[in-house]
Amino acid sequence: MTGAASGLGLEFSHLLARDSFDLILVDIDGNKLGEAKEILEAKYGVNVDILHHDLSTPQVATKIYAAVKGREIEVLINNAGFGLSGFFSKTNWQAEEAMIQLHVLTLTHLTKLILKDMLEKKSGSIMNVSSLAAFQPGPLMAVYYATKAYILSFSEALANEVKGTGVTITVFCPGVTKTGFQGKAAQLSGSKESRINFRTISPQAVALYGYIAMQAGKPVAIQGFQNKLTALLPRFVTRAFAVSMVRRIQEKLRE
Ligand SMILES: NC(=O)c1ccc[n+]([C@@H]2O[C@H](COP(=O)([O-])OP(=O)(O)OC[C@H]3O[C@@H](n4cnc5c(N)ncnc54)[C@H](OP(=O)(O)O)[C@@H]3O)[C@@H](O)[C@H]2O)c1
Repeated sequence: MTGAASGLGLEFSHLLARDSFDLILVDIDGNKLGEAKEILEAKYGVNVDILHHDLSTPQVATKIYAAVKGREIEVLINNAGFGLSGFFSKTNWQAEEAMIQLHVLTLTHLTKLILKDMLEKKSGSIMNVSSLAAFQPGPLMAVYYATKAYILSFSEALANEVKGTGVTITVFCPGVTKTGFQGKAAQLSGSKESRINFRTISPQAVALYGYIAMQAGKPVAIQGFQNKLTALLPRFVTRAFAVSMVRRIQEKLRE
């Protein structure tokens, strides 16, 4: 489980531990990882190992794989991610480079390393956490939307490739969820956190939906009618209209 110390990742960890899985939690925040380990071990009686890594550094997937080698990985959840907004010409390149490394390269590499072992055992589940942002380009959050579109496309293709092998790939596309995500995105973007009151769903409910979809081996998981409609909408309007709608939403968020 990556990005396991807070938000959706922590909720997935509770769900896995509740189902008696021993856990390997990876996150950039060592203190929160330690707290999560204590709580999960005490509450569910499972073993929790923690790996303190910045997943936006090159070759980190190799290091993680070396650290877990010999362990039987039944479930991989690539969940870690963060947002950044602003005009691409003005946003911080270091943050965007880290985002591409985290959302694209590390996720892809970890999937490759662990998928091979799962295919040999003919069992396992991988869930990659994308976003509703994956379904159309996102002006003022261009790199975030593009990397989430990559996760969707990559995971759907893999889900097809592994059909009938005993291994499943699920891509989970949450809508706005009440976690630390928005605060961190605002902080990285040098903007105020949006005061728009979204109909946000709790991370517990969102994680549970994704978890059940992963267990069912669903290729794509989108929670709720409204989110499904949002994902489908770009198919019924012109691409230019969909892009301009996102632009308007992003501008509102930044007011
Ligand atoms: N919340 C939403 O509205 C929403 C909507 C759609 C999709 N998502 C996706 O859901 C996933 C989980 O997000 P969340 O809402 O749970 O956000 P969150 O509350 O910020 O949790 C993300 C976790 O990942 C960790 N992380 C971030 N960058 C990392 C790195 N380079 N290396 C290791 N760990 C790192 C964070 O640590 P720090 O806190 O120390 O940075 C945090 O513990 C993300 O992929 C996000 O894109 C979220």
